[in-house]
Amino acid sequence: MDTNKMFRLDGKRGFITGGAQGIGKTIAFAFAELGADIAIVDMNFGKAQNTANEITQATGRKVIAYECNVTDPTSVKKMIDDYEKDFSTINFSVNNAGIFTGDAAIDISPETFKSVIDVNLNGVFFTAQAAARLMVKHKTGGSIISTASMSAHIINQPQTIANYCASKAGVVHLTKALAVEWAKYKIRVNCVSPGYIQTELIATLKDLLPVWLEKMPEGSRLGYPEDLIGIFVYLASDASLFATGSDMIVDGGYTIL
Ligand SMILES: NC(=O)c1ccc[n+]([C@@H]2O[C@H](COP(=O)([O-])OP(=O)(O)OC[C@H]3O[C@@H](n4cnc5c(N)ncnc54)[C@H](O)[C@@H]3O)[C@@H](O)[C@H]2O)c1
Repeated sequence: MDTNKMFRLDGKRGFITGGAQGIGKTIAFAFAELGADIAIVDMNFGKAQNTANEITQATGRKVIAYECNVTDPTSVKKMIDDYEKDFSTINFSVNNAGIFTGDAAIDISPETFKSVIDVNLNGVFFTAQAAARLMVKHKTGGSIISTASMSAHIINQPQTIANYCASKAGVVHLTKALAVEWAKYKIRVNCVSPGYIQTELIATLKDLLPVWLEKMPEGSRLGYPEDLIGIFVYLASDASLFATGSDMIVDGGYTIL
């Protein structure tokens, strides 16, 4: 094995949901820099198109935006059909679209509770399934990567976050179940559990940054999307051929205390 080539993604292609901004955009950029062709899948089509153009201009890779609501199986089916027409085969999917509402469990409405489970857990499943079906159809195998969270492992304080924690814990165990079911198709299924990463998702909570830092080992810091590039590249590349059913916690040490 040539270590210089091990982490390259030349010749690989796949989609990244929630790829228009934040963590998904950063991962899409990194994958393209390493030689992959990318589908940016997002509800926000305008932003997804801008991101796709930006990455193509910077890297010369084929990057196409698709409008898709990951909670809607019909929308996911249309996205994967369009993807297949444009890219033919698939080597990886990054099921990363996610939302956070911050409602207290005592007050939360059924609609709001369901909306978070729908995007963060059901949406991960629908897009993972779409990718896996294409991998099975073309007998390629591949790597399915979902974005879970350290909230699958701890309960974030002082914010109220029960629905989010439940959805992310679901992603971790879903990952293990799919890894077992899809091993026979040579499909690896893993997830990443980031700690606090400075994106729009947590922008409304920025007054809590000092509180969170106090809960971390002395000298730690909060994360940036770039801090996750290494682990996503590892999971999409041939460097991780023996990794499946894993949940990779990357949190600056938050969950060890
Ligand atoms: N930022 C953090 O601190 C943090 C920590 C742990 C895990 N995460 C997870 O990382 C993932 C990415 O988060 P981020 O911080 O980049 O968030 P973000 O809000 O910056 O980006 C999320 C993207 O997902 C898209 N999206 C939302 N709902 C969608 C839907 N139904 N269908 C299609 N696209 C949809 C949005 O349009 C947006 O482009 C999420 O799953 C989030 O839960 C984030």
